Amino acid sequence: PLEDCKLIELPKINDPQGNLTFVENNSQIPFEIQRVYYVYDVPGGAERGGHAHKGLHQFIVAMSGSFDITLDDGQNKRKFHLARSYYGLYVCPMIWREIDNFSSGSVLMCLASNKYSEEDYYRKYEDFMRARWAAA
Ligand code: TYD
Repeated sequence: PLEDCKLIELPKINDPQGNLTFVENNSQIPFEIQRVYYVYDVPGGAERGGHAHKGLHQFIVAMSGSFDITLDDGQNKRKFHLARSYYGLYVCPMIWREIDNFSSGSVLMCLASNKYSEEDYYRKYEDFMRARWAAA
């Protein structure tokens, strides 16, 4: 459910020579990482996401720049602005997401609990809603 999705602040080692942040399996984030992907060179005005995952857990960080993520569990919506590399958004399964308002040069990094599988996606909102209410 949407209440499980939250911003998580990560450890930050401050140093005049540059800051350092780390993420460990099952420690800062509630799942084991099987995959890392990143989205970059996003043109102005682009919208990404527009899908939900059946079983995937994700943790999304703005490694550079900023963007907005709107989460929707089929009943309620919450919007988050990601703009710092020392925190990220935990997104649990069965949440529809839209990502937009990318600043120029922004980089989205996602840590994911499984390898890529198209079977794990709901690409149509109506399919997501049908499954969401069948499960409820
Ligand atoms: P998609 O998850 O739809 O991107 P976004 O949510 O950022 O809009 O993925 C876009 C394309 O990339 C789609 O054809 C699937 C492919 N893809 C992979 O092959 N491996 C991956 O790990 C991911 C995330 C996507």
